[in-house]
Amino acid sequence: MRKIQFGKPLIGLEEKNAVQEVLNGDILVHGPKAVEFENAVCAFTSGKKAVAVSSCTAALHLSYFYLGIKSGDEVIVPAQTHVATAHAVEMCSGKPVFVDCETKTGNIDISQIENHITSKTRALSVVHYLGMPVEMDRIMKIAKKHSLFVVEDCALALGARFKGIHAGLYGDVGCFSFYPVKHITTAEGGILLTQNEQIAAKVSRQKAFGLDRNVGERKVPGIYDVTMLGFNYRLNEIGAAIGIEQMKKLPGILAVRKENYEKLTECLREIDEIELLQSTHSEFQSSYYCHSIILKEKHAAKREKIIENLNMMGVGTSVYYPAPVPLLSYYREKYGYKEIQFPTASRISNNSIALPVGAHLNADDMVYIGKCVKESIIKSEV
Ligand SMILES: Cc1ncc(COP(=O)(O)O)c(C=O)c1O
Repeated sequence: MRKIQFGKPLIGLEEKNAVQEVLNGDILVHGPKAVEFENAVCAFTSGKKAVAVSSCTAALHLSYFYLGIKSGDEVIVPAQTHVATAHAVEMCSGKPVFVDCETKTGNIDISQIENHITSKTRALSVVHYLGMPVEMDRIMKIAKKHSLFVVEDCALALGARFKGIHAGLYGDVGCFSFYPVKHITTAEGGILLTQNEQIAAKVSRQKAFGLDRNVGERKVPGIYDVTMLGFNYRLNEIGAAIGIEQMKKLPGILAVRKENYEKLTECLREIDEIELLQSTHSEFQSSYYCHSIILKEKHAAKREKIIENLNMMGVGTSVYYPAPVPLLSYYREKYGYKEIQFPTASRISNNSIALPVGAHLNADDMVYIGKCVKESIIKSEV
């Protein structure tokens, strides 16, 4: 039987040697590797400035902290996302105002955004759901009309482009994740990408306690001033060294993900019991994070059984995401949200199964996954 992991970091000799090199030296933080990693991400995305941080959540938090989000402020947040997208707003005492997603891609339903904007709305966040880019030109039009700051949650979108421009570069900031199952990893880690040098300069201070000079900039060791409030959100040199090697492999990783995704689409297309989300077409270039199948209503009640069958056949699965964020206990209890407000996000959360397409897998694995999906559904019915 095959053993197909849902996600697997691709760590080779290059990453191991790079880590060894860092460990052989004396610089574990505040070093050149984090800067080199930032430059590599800028080169790949054609972004102006990148600020390496300890996670995507840290990048999101810094975005709202930079903006000065405070109690009484509202931020538009897609309902179908990871909780971090909303938590970052709460961490600044702002209120996330959730918007349902569209059926076709799982991305925020742009046609509903303006109904949720009030005089308190300060920012608009989007998530490129499973790496499928949001129509950013429509988002930016709304943002301009209402003077809103735009945060792109690009946790799953390294390699995604809309009209040829990389995700994260339309908005004021783009926040990326390098958690182990993402396109590339730094173990834990993230980056804040921006075309605005002032944002990058301020966030670089805020990620390191708000100190006015970092270690390399100090004339007298140990002497600095603190000019603003800040956190300890730096990316360490070990993670950055891994990230530099991973960035060299990224084009190859993305090519394999695309091939796998297309092969799996071919295998899944004939299965009547499921629907597929829209993948790359003309102006939308996905980063192919995973393939999420949506069970038709008639079969949705058997999802757990189907997942169990798939796992027993050696196919690793996941669910993106287990509930619309407003329906997670913390948000439901705090704001009183109801399922009826988020029918599309609820359908994706309740009926979907995420299948792997990572670069640790090949075309044969995709054929096997397709066969197992069909068999798992049949078996769940007996
Ligand atoms: C859409 C989204 N945003 C944010 C995050 C949080 O990323 P991190 O673990 O790097 O903080 C995730 C994690 O999977 C995510 O899926």
